[in-house]
Amino acid sequence: MKKYILSCTLLAILAACGGNEEKKTTDTAAAGTAATASTDRSNNPDYQKGLELVGKSDCLTCHKVGDKLIGPSYKEVAAKYENNEENLTMLAGKIIKGGQGVWGNVPMTPHAQLSEEDAKQMVKYIFTLKD
Ligand code: HEC
Repeated sequence: MKKYILSCTLLAILAACGGNEEKKTTDTAAAGTAATASTDRSNNPDYQKGLELVGKSDCLTCHKVGDKLIGPSYKEVAAKYENNEENLTMLAGKIIKGGQGVWGNVPMTPHAQLSEEDAKQMVKYIFTLKD
């Protein structure tokens, strides 16, 4: 009899846990849908191409999309500058030649091997991160 009660209790606990688990999954799934709905950039060719170039270079050792690392977050950069031809050229130049003094005293290393076209594509990617 004792054993029977015990296994009933166990079953009840298992069932309760199982129930919770299921609820959590649905919650995260819902949150995931909401996040993609407001920030879906995957169809933007500037986003895709720029992200690929940024991923191939060393940018992500110093930059993150949403948090400051050694350099400013890409979202901060996107928020600071207007998306126009002048800033595109200026920022691409900084990526190639390096920069210092805009965000603090830590310098950004130059990337002399990058073509201006690739550097501009990276800046275009950063501009797609504007909120
Ligand atoms: C060694 C670390 C480091 C690497 C690698 C790096 N950055 Fe930076 N980056 C920085 C720092 C530090 C700053 C802030 C410089 C300043 O204050 O002017 C910065 C600034 C920037 C800015 C803003 C410039 C401005 O004047 O506002 C852009 C855009 C940028 N980085 C893009 C890139 C891209 C794209 C790459 C990859 C090709 C890259 N960074 C690689 C450290 C780095």
